Amino acid sequence: MTQTQSTKEQIDTGFHRQGTILAIETSCDETAVAIVRDGQEVLANVVSSQIDVHRRFGGVVPEIASRKHVETITVMIEQALDQAGLTLRDLDAIAVTQGPGLVGALLVGIMAAKSLALALNIPLIGTHHIAGHIYANQLVAKLEYPCLALVVSGGHTELVLLEREGQFRIIGRTRDDAVGEAYDKVARAVGFPYPGGPHMDRLALEAAEVVTLPRAWLEPDSYDFSFSGVKSAVLNVVNQAKMKGEPPMPAAIARGFQESVIDVLITKAMRAIKEYGAKQLLLCGGVAANRGLRAALTERCALEQVPLVIPPFEYCTDNAAMIGAAGFLKWKHQQFVGLDFTAEPTFSLEQWSIMSS
Ligand code: KG4
Ligand code: ZN
Repeated sequence: MTQTQSTKEQIDTGFHRQGTILAIETSCDETAVAIVRDGQEVLANVVSSQIDVHRRFGGVVPEIASRKHVETITVMIEQALDQAGLTLRDLDAIAVTQGPGLVGALLVGIMAAKSLALALNIPLIGTHHIAGHIYANQLVAKLEYPCLALVVSGGHTELVLLEREGQFRIIGRTRDDAVGEAYDKVARAVGFPYPGGPHMDRLALEAAEVVTLPRAWLEPDSYDFSFSGVKSAVLNVVNQAKMKGEPPMPAAIARGFQESVIDVLITKAMRAIKEYGAKQLLLCGGVAANRGLRAALTERCALEQVPLVIPPFEYCTDNAAMIGAAGFLKWKHQQFVGLDFTAEPTFSLEQWSIMSS
């Protein structure tokens, strides 16, 4: 009997829409497991970060990431069950990040998820990482459609329109660096270790001076982004200071960089809100932890009376609670995957949208 058949039988014999879902996220350098009920109630949320291991290499080393996930995943599943006070028998489904991400890293989570689903004979849900970041907002607020998500992470920078629940349309994306990636590269140029985003955020808030840096607006009607220009401008400032034997002024650079990035992100998001009549703006992804961005967006949305949702810090950076929240969409629509599904390193968000049933 295939997984899909067994799932169907379960549904026919007493499917209930509330689901206690164990979610696994291993797409990059965090081994994360959560248990989420009904797409909203977080019963457990544990994250083991590998940042200390990768820091000395200046970024994530895929092979090391996979090995660390293998070492940690079982312990994290046990910890999540302990935290929730549940046993494996209490679970209704397993959700796992299918992509995008590092293929070896994704496969570790997927293997663990398949083993659990097979052993427990419960449905398996393949989840999109960015859908997870977006639906992290559902852990703290009721989403009103249409809404617009501003996704700012280490690998993605996108404006995503959700006309209905689980329907994703990307209206703008970065043409080069993701915003988190640009933060990390600029931080490295001014002497901070990976991941540099939090260091830049702190410095920017402390800075008394500012180095004014360019903004890439692209074509007037475009919702796309480009951060490679501002990144190169920072590298120029740093190199010129070095050549002149002057101190590099990291705080003033951090503030200038942060102001440039925030200006472009907020201006484009607010224009899209108006054009598409979105009822809410959802901020998400690792860079949503940025205090400067959170404060500026909060102020602008208050001024323009746009309801804004921002998840708490622990749901901004990679975590599995967000995978449980997004996985619940598929649970509600009974759209499960079979045991033959595999990792999708370049998974399309739009294709992951809920098929109307
Ligand atoms: O979403 P995430 O945890 O992983 C990906 O899916 O990429 O995002 C990680 C990114 C890193 O580039 C990190 O530097 C950035 O989020 N980040 C920040 C802050 N906290 C994390 N960037 C700016 N300010 C922060 N406070
Ligand atoms: Zn992420």
